[in-house]
Amino acid sequence: MGAVLKIDLIAAARPNFMKVAPVYHALRRQMRCDLRLVHSGQHYDANMSQTFFQDLALPDPDINLGVGSGTHAEQTGRTLMAYERLCIDRRPDWTIVVGDVNATLACALAATKMGIRVGHVESGLRSRDRSMPEEVNRVLTDAVADLLWTPSSDANENLRSEGIPEARIDFVGNVMIDTFEFMRPRIEAASTRADQGLVFGSYAVVTLHRPSNVDDPARLATLVNTLGRISADLPIVFPVHPRTRARLEGAGLLSRLRACAGIRLLEPQGYVSFMNLLTGAAIAITDSGGMQEETTYLSIPCLTIRDTTERPVTLTQGTNQLVRAEQLLDAVHAASFAADESWRAAQKRPPLWDGHAAERIVESLKRHT
Ligand code: UD1
Repeated sequence: MGAVLKIDLIAAARPNFMKVAPVYHALRRQMRCDLRLVHSGQHYDANMSQTFFQDLALPDPDINLGVGSGTHAEQTGRTLMAYERLCIDRRPDWTIVVGDVNATLACALAATKMGIRVGHVESGLRSRDRSMPEEVNRVLTDAVADLLWTPSSDANENLRSEGIPEARIDFVGNVMIDTFEFMRPRIEAASTRADQGLVFGSYAVVTLHRPSNVDDPARLATLVNTLGRISADLPIVFPVHPRTRARLEGAGLLSRLRACAGIRLLEPQGYVSFMNLLTGAAIAITDSGGMQEETTYLSIPCLTIRDTTERPVTLTQGTNQLVRAEQLLDAVHAASFAADESWRAAQKRPPLWDGHAAERIVESLKRHT
């Protein structure tokens, strides 16, 4: 029998954890391997990190690199150096990275320069907007990865057009849906919605955290005013990201939001609580990547306050719509079509968004080792 494969699985920030969890569980189930769970420490507040490990039945990370907050160069550079040291101490055969955060690129780069093979979960997504730090992380990670696991066929086309050899690309589907299906009973049993006095199908969930929306006080003020007007007709629940809370406070806008009777401001929620809120929403208003996908899967209309998306399948096959901050109020009113069951029934789930993507990733890894 050959040596047991050594694998590092990298997590860093909130949107990673629901992608890491199904891969972790599938590796444990399906493969004899020496698995090390590495947390870069980019997200460190309990409600941005630890809660997710508990919710998703992940063990505490074996290693926390403790990089914390900082500029992009600081975060990426500290992760690059710390992860290289870790690989010198114990060299894995594979480093598996997920998504598009700074640690995705940093760990992929450290590993590839040491001749360690790199697998990328959620490969091939492109917004074509290089002003998004995540887009730079995506392009560079895919350029060095050995095995690229894609969530949708548009991602395969993107990779081909960048000259990535076909043999490295494997269309496996969307691991976020694995997590949702795995957690569905707990999500449905949770009481977050009821605790907030919200009625199924008759409120909006709002999340905002992108620098393009929250860092400019004028743009943030437009959004706050619009949310206030929407909440006059439709209750809003808004778990506030730490960056957004800081920007709202800095711009003197937090008190304006608090004064709106129809808006419930919450701390960042754990996975189960948040999905309990989202599954009961009439509509989602967001700039998140993951929520565009979750709402497509759930047939919930989603208004994404961005100019581009790296997830075009949510526009063509699903429920998502890109809107500018100034168009948001009209778009919410137009989206009242969502109440229509036939509209919901007409929404399609993209191929291989079926709850088994992580299993396919492990099979793919076995084929390539
Ligand atoms: C990061 C990801 C982004 C993802 C987002 C989800 C990159 C380039 N960006 O952006 O793709 O959509 O996470 O949240 O990796 N902070 C806390 N507590 C924490 C974590 C952060 O207070 O636990 C504060 C930081 O001090 C900082 C701000 O939140 O002021 C932003 O955090 P950071 O991790 O730099 O980036 P995100 O905007 O969260």
